[in-house]
Order: sequence, then C-alpha cells, then structure tokens
Amino acid sequence: MTYEQAGSRAVPDLDLAGKHIVLGLSGGIACYKAAELCRALIKHGATVQVVMTEAAEQFITAVTLQALSGRPVYTSQWDSRASGGMDNNMAHINLSREADAIVIAPCSADFMAKLLHGRADDLLSLMCLARPIESVPLLIAPAMNREMWAHPATQRNMAQLQADGATILGVGSGFQACGETGDGRMLEPPELLEDVVSFFMPKVLGGQQVLVTAGPTYEAIDPVRGITNLSSGKMGFALARAAREAGAQVTLVAGPVSLDTPRGVTRIDVKSARDMLHAVETRAQNATVFIASAAVADWRPATAASQKIKKDGSSETPQLAFTENPDILATVARSPAALSGQLFCVGFAAESQDLLENAQAKRLRKKVPLLVGNIGPDTFGKDHNTLVLVDEHGSVELAQASKLALARKLVKEIAVRRAAHLAALSTRSESHAT
Ligand code: CTP
Repeated sequence: MTYEQAGSRAVPDLDLAGKHIVLGLSGGIACYKAAELCRALIKHGATVQVVMTEAAEQFITAVTLQALSGRPVYTSQWDSRASGGMDNNMAHINLSREADAIVIAPCSADFMAKLLHGRADDLLSLMCLARPIESVPLLIAPAMNREMWAHPATQRNMAQLQADGATILGVGSGFQACGETGDGRMLEPPELLEDVVSFFMPKVLGGQQVLVTAGPTYEAIDPVRGITNLSSGKMGFALARAAREAGAQVTLVAGPVSLDTPRGVTRIDVKSARDMLHAVETRAQNATVFIASAAVADWRPATAASQKIKKDGSSETPQLAFTENPDILATVARSPAALSGQLFCVGFAAESQDLLENAQAKRLRKKVPLLVGNIGPDTFGKDHNTLVLVDEHGSVELAQASKLALARKLVKEIAVRRAAHLAALSTRSESHAT
C-alpha cells in the first residue's frame, strides 16, 4: 500500500502539521522500516526527533535517521549536547517535554518488558519514564518473532502497558525475518502513519457504530457481462477512515472497487444492489449512523442469463429488459431504528446538474435528516471533490478539497447534527407526553 492509497489522495494532506514526534527505535530487524516511517511522518508535516537504543544501532545507523529526520539523533543518556533548546545535560527530560507523542517503532519484547517495569538504564527508557504522562502519550509498535509475541509474558506486558496508559498499535502478520510465519511483525510504515494520524483526531464519533456503503454496484447480464457505473468508492472509503479516526466502530459495505481497506474498518464486499441491501439491512439494526455513499445501480437486467449470451450470426441484437433495484437508503430510513432517531441516516446525491435543487428534493424523497450532494461526473474516480450539505435548515458548501479532508469535515458535521437530531426528537417526544 502506498501513502497515497492509504489516504485515497494524490497529494498528501499535512495531517501532522505542527506535531512534534519523538521516534524511539529499540533493537530489531524492523528498524529498517522505522527509516521509512520517519520519512512518512515528516512528509505529512511532523517534525521528528529520533532516539535510538544501543541495540537499535546494531540494525541501522544513526546517520541514516539523522539524514531522514534532519536532526541529530540521540542515543545515550550521557550525551551532553544541548537538547530541546536546553543546555542542562538532561536529554531524557528535554526531549520528551516538547513532544506531542513518543512513538516506539520498533518496540522489541525486551523493551516492552523494560517499559513495563519502569526501568531507566538507557536514554529511551529513561525518557519514557520521565515523560509527563498526561500530556505526552506513548505509542508502541511491537516487533518480534511470533513465539515471542504469543508468549504469555509478552501478552501480559502488553495488557499492563495499556493499563498504564500506553497505546499499542498492534502487529502485522506474515513472513518474518527469522523465516517463520505468524503474528508479531511490525506494522508497515503506511499503517503506522495512519494510526499516528488517527491518534490525534478528535473522537467526535467515539462509541458510535457507523455503517457506510461505498462504490458502484454491478448488475449481471450474463456470467461475463454486467452493468455498473464510474464510482470509484474513494469518497466512501475516505468516510470510513474518517469515522474510524473519529473513534467509531466502522463497517464498510463496498461494491466492486480495488481500494485498500482503511485501518481498523470491517469490510464486506458485495456486487449487486440486492447483495448490498442484504448486507446493510442485517447490520443497520445495530448501527447509530448510516452513510449511503454508494452509487447504487437504479436498474438491473430483469433476468441474468446463466450462460454467456453468444452472437448467433444474425444481425439481431439482444433485447434487455430492466427491473428497478431496491432503494437501500430509503429502506433503511424507513426502519424503526431510523424513525426512532437511534440511527442517523446520511444520503448522497450524485447529480449532473442543478445540484442544490436536486439534493433538496432528494433529501425529502428519501426522508433523511442530512443529504450530501456532489456532481458525479466532476468527482467519479478523482481524489478531490466539492460537497453541498442539505438539511432542514438549509445548505452549506464544503469547498473543494481532498476526499479525505472532506470526509473528516463531514464526519464532524454528522456528529453535530446527530446530537441535535436526537435532542430535537427527545424534546418532541417530551412535549407529546405532557
Ligand atoms: N441509493 C440507494 N439505493 C438505490 C439508489 C440510491 O441506497 N437503489 C442511495 C445512494 O447511496 C445515495 C442516495 O440514495 O445515498 C441517492 O442516490 P442517487 O444515485 O444520487 O439518486 P437516486 O435515488 O438513484 O435518484 P436519481 O437516479 O433519480 O437521481
């Protein structure tokens, strides 16, 4: 996965602008990935101060990390150079005071054990212990052999570190440098980047269950042909990512698209509108927000041929008859969960003209509190978009931006409107009761 795919965009947004990250490396072969992570953090706007343990220096040189971070690397608690703008010979204090977060990547099994016990016999562990625990969060990217990862001692240490306030970024699975295959690899740099960016996002949808549809649907004519549309799914995938960054548990029901699943999002792949409806209906009951961004095919061939339709040598072309697909959004918006206000429904409108009028009419037709309009031909397949938000009070435009930036704004708008919608419903039911 590339950084661009990770955020569904061609030019990275400076997601980490103004953030200062202390990147700590402990000893492990995954140190080579830390070089790429350092670069990625900087590319996304952060400043990075690297601190390495002696063991890390066995795997990668400080020179490499200094070149990538543009700052001298610290490796020893006895280093007397000025640090963090201070000349007090206390690198362990100075380096952590100016950090927005300390990210240990890779964090070896040994270093985890060390952190757990509050040991402080090298600069990195000393700095972690000396950090102001409330204002400087500690993010840990473990990296180790699968047996070491699965060992009860490691699992115990991980649970305790979490209880002590650290954020464990998880591990990857697959082929390991030792030749074995299993869990314990350090996450890939784009995954870690996504997690670090996500960590800083306001949790405006904390505790919510968000269900998103994305992409086109595919309606079969025969086993090799079908009807679909130009939707790329990028907006829906960006929304799923933004909702997860905002603290929600997210399920993404995706039509046929070739996009990577955002981190931490549960993805269900479907093909046809009827498959999508089925996947959505079963999950909407437990959701609190439903965002229908999919470009669902309005019609499907009335019958799909079971074998490929062949040319028979005559000049006659096949005659296709169509039948209307179910309207997924309208179906969900009529459900008891939506009518009671427990489920907040957000529709999209892909128009080619008269955006505002069409979006307003569509909101009323679909009976949803919020409808998001965009011009389909201007945005399908692209990384940027312009949105107009329509609700009972009027309309607001979200100016052109990357789909991820728009998705983050939209998620905030949804959080605010959902709260207002719930409040209005409860006032209405109270006034009915009195
Ligand atoms: N939608 C849906 N199921 C359908 C058709 C549309 O859930 N069968 C949803 C879309 O996901 C979107 C909204 O309804 O949230 C509007 O979709 P759009 O394609 O813009 O409009 P249509 O309802 O298809 O109406 P029209 O084609 O006439 O513009």
